Amino acid sequence: MRLTRRQAVGGMAATAFLPTLPARAAGPQTLTAQVSDMQLLPDEYGRTTIWGYDGTMPGPEIRVSKGGRVQREFINQLPQATSIHWHGVRIDNQMDGVSGLTQSAIAPNERFVYDFKVPDAGTYWFHAHNRSVEQVARGLYGALIVEETTPPDIDQEDVLILDDWLVDTATGQIDNDFDAMHDRSHAGRNGNFIATNGVGGFSKSAKQNERRRLRIINAANARIFELRLDGMEGWVLALDGMPLNKPEPFGDYLLLGPGQRADVFVDITAETGEVAHLVSMIDDRAFAQVRFNVTGEASKTRRSIPAPLESNSTPNVALQDAIQLDLTMEGGAMGRLRSASLDGKRESFRSLISKGQFWAFNGAVGRMENGPLAQLERGEHVRLKIRNDTVFPHAMHLHGMHFQEVSESGQLGPFRDTTLVFGNQTREIAFVADNPGKWLLHCHMLSHAASGMTTQIEVV
Ligand code: C2O
Ligand code: CU
Repeated sequence: MRLTRRQAVGGMAATAFLPTLPARAAGPQTLTAQVSDMQLLPDEYGRTTIWGYDGTMPGPEIRVSKGGRVQREFINQLPQATSIHWHGVRIDNQMDGVSGLTQSAIAPNERFVYDFKVPDAGTYWFHAHNRSVEQVARGLYGALIVEETTPPDIDQEDVLILDDWLVDTATGQIDNDFDAMHDRSHAGRNGNFIATNGVGGFSKSAKQNERRRLRIINAANARIFELRLDGMEGWVLALDGMPLNKPEPFGDYLLLGPGQRADVFVDITAETGEVAHLVSMIDDRAFAQVRFNVTGEASKTRRSIPAPLESNSTPNVALQDAIQLDLTMEGGAMGRLRSASLDGKRESFRSLISKGQFWAFNGAVGRMENGPLAQLERGEHVRLKIRNDTVFPHAMHLHGMHFQEVSESGQLGPFRDTTLVFGNQTREIAFVADNPGKWLLHCHMLSHAASGMTTQIEVV
């Protein structure tokens, strides 16, 4: 039989081409959650066992451009089921990574392909979202950076993930009492070893007059970082990934609750041989969170005030058309909660405590299983009044959509995905429910989320 010319060429091409094919069919890159260890504490404590993505803490940075796509074949090599939440991304609901709500938890040795588009530029992060109170505390998080189409004018960029680790100083290991009653009923799990990107006393070298973009992420279980600048002048350009209309001078301090991020542009004003600092106030004492050792001069003069970052296309709320929702938070130590319903049954606070539950949303212990706080039509404009009737601050995080804080006078603030509500404070937020699915709304103080501060909003 004679081959036609087409068949011959096809055959030749195949044999000529085959050896150059990659050994493995090109699938998505993998990301593996695994038990690992690292030198977290000073050397004399030895290495600390952590859980990390690809065995590192923080996990590998994921960086894409605005409008790009993130694809990872996730492999769970942990002894526990897990999932990954892409915090702050206006994502497709099935990819939101909430075990028990948007997907089932990925069992040990199982895989799951995360594949989604990132509509907005900004500083985001990813973290475990099954038994987060344990898994995040063990180190399962990393930065997700979405770059602007038009890059801002800077000299350097620093991704700074802040955390406070609760370690047992006798063993040098992470304290494994993740469900401690005191943490659940009080301010949450606060650590005793402060680090940036897993390094205590993180330092970098810098130049006088250079402009650096600090992408600051608070990955702590519960700590609210109070940040100050020393030896540099700064402006806040974005909060929770979303650009401000106009850069705000940094001012005296910036509060960053768990889950929150800030993009701060700083000009190094310290001189050669000096050290500029990102300072955090820990128990009223200044702590050098990050040191910038100034080793020279980038230029003779400084730049002018930074221009705003290119904006994202987050929808603005029309307050006058918005429906009103209310969420009252009660409970915790020193609170007034006498009883609340748990799984449909009224129970005394004492009985709730015996079940490790301390908090209530609108009179019910807030759980993912409870059914939604609200069912909204797609596109509906919503204002949600969050009343904190407890003595503790809470960092309320809404998945899937960004909201704006509404001031007392009815002004809309910057877009955020996590808002700090202090003890006995009321905070109103507003958003357009434009992303269909079941979206978690919870306190990002992870011990609180595990003990009554979790609900969801459904957009149909
Ligand atoms: Cu960053 Cu539901 O979490
Ligand atoms: Cu809380």
